[in-house]
Amino acid sequence: MAGNWKMYKTPAETKAFFDAFLQLVAEAKHCEIAICPPFVNIHAAVEASRGTRVGVGAQNLYWKNEGAFTGEVSGPMIKASGAAWVIIGHSERRQYFGETDATVLERTKAALAAGLKPIVCVGERLEEREAGRTDAVLAEQFNGGIAPLDADAFAKIVIAYEPVWAIGTGRTATPEMAADAHRVLRGLVSAKYGAVAGAAIRILYGGSVKPDNVKGLMAQPEIDGALVGGASLEAASFASIVNF
Ligand code: 13P
Repeated sequence: MAGNWKMYKTPAETKAFFDAFLQLVAEAKHCEIAICPPFVNIHAAVEASRGTRVGVGAQNLYWKNEGAFTGEVSGPMIKASGAAWVIIGHSERRQYFGETDATVLERTKAALAAGLKPIVCVGERLEEREAGRTDAVLAEQFNGGIAPLDADAFAKIVIAYEPVWAIGTGRTATPEMAADAHRVLRGLVSAKYGAVAGAAIRILYGGSVKPDNVKGLMAQPEIDGALVGGASLEAASFASIVNF
């Protein structure tokens, strides 16, 4: 269960979140938990979660380790800050910041080289779904951004299926729609990396996951977890999702 805070919260607000959240998930042993705050809050999140089962992640990284790349942050820097995870290829990065399948691949390789666990995002836009292109888009994103990884690298990633039309819109994919897309992705994984990898890959669903719809989503065997935006910003709300 991963929370993507996007561009929300200060370091002080991060600490306040953890003070409340950690108590609420103290008994949660059934899943891994990660919070992905903005870069400037990683330190506060790592300090606040030290010694707990809650991991911290970044929301992006650049693929070079260091250099004259003003404004960028590298995998080794994120790792040294104490984060364990990194979200890669979020649709907002694809939509607003020119992310492509090719850069998703570069970032994923860099994350793995730095010892970070990538959460690689894929998902179709509304017009693609309405044109009946969902499966084709997922295949394009998988083939371009993920499938060039070798099997050892692939075994270390998590995939997040986030239909763009369901993000921040309150319009969740039905559990069946999400499960259908997860099945397509699992099929692509099996075809490329074999049936064992297809069964083992963890696929998170993201897009308007809330305390009141998480149970139905998680009842689908295809859905292994959630990548939560808005509902991860408030401790009680994200805790109730974790404790679904
Ligand atoms: P919302 O949960 O706010 O729809 O955001 C989903 C998301 O983009 C998580 O990465």
